[in-house]
Amino acid sequence: MTPQIAPSLLAANFYDLKPQLEAVKAAGASVLHIDVMDGMFVPNISVGIPVIESLAKTSGMTLDVHLMINNPDRYIKAFAEAGGDWLTVHYEAVPVNELRGLLAEIRDMGLKAGLSVKPDTDTDVIEDYAELCDLILIMTVPPGFGGQHYDPDGNARIARVRAILDKKNPGCILSVDGGIDRHTIAGAHRAGADLFVAGSAVFGEPDAGEAVKELLSIL
Ligand code: DX5
Ligand code: ZN
Repeated sequence: MTPQIAPSLLAANFYDLKPQLEAVKAAGASVLHIDVMDGMFVPNISVGIPVIESLAKTSGMTLDVHLMINNPDRYIKAFAEAGGDWLTVHYEAVPVNELRGLLAEIRDMGLKAGLSVKPDTDTDVIEDYAELCDLILIMTVPPGFGGQHYDPDGNARIARVRAILDKKNPGCILSVDGGIDRHTIAGAHRAGADLFVAGSAVFGEPDAGEAVKELLSIL
């Protein structure tokens, strides 16, 4: 995939979303990353179904929904109906014997199916599921909060997953999430990522559009 920036909604000002989304779209970002947290899988609570419904109707962006929730199977249908386009579940949040079925269920609903791993999960687990996924999301911070530092092992982890995908599913999107900014994005790109989630480095900047342009210029 052509490298893309996916601005992460978590870092936006929720009082005044529209101009921020228009700015990132005008700068070339067509994918919006939305973090859904349940206060159980991660120690934080963020946004959910009604917010996705509104954004699906009006944002004109592809909604990349990152489910940081336990037992996401309970909510796949609801997020699909709300208008999510890509649904990513966490490897650590789903019983191993249910994961294949869950990824297939997401695809059967006509969505892209994503699988994410936390920084301390062995990336080799991806191997068994790569063909069932349209997106792999490598977490490069412990999930739950924006504004954290990029995992020093992040690039090596991305490179290992790139090798797995080259073998098993070359068309699969390889996304990186956490601590992506003007200093870390080039290394993640060289390691093989092609979708770069960025929260603070986009919406934490005075001009979100300029921030997207700057990140894109590094790729
Ligand atoms: C963290 C979320 C990220 C977060 C990234 O759990 O998954 O998407 O918004 O924020 P930054 O880019 O600030 O590290
Ligand atoms: Zn995320």
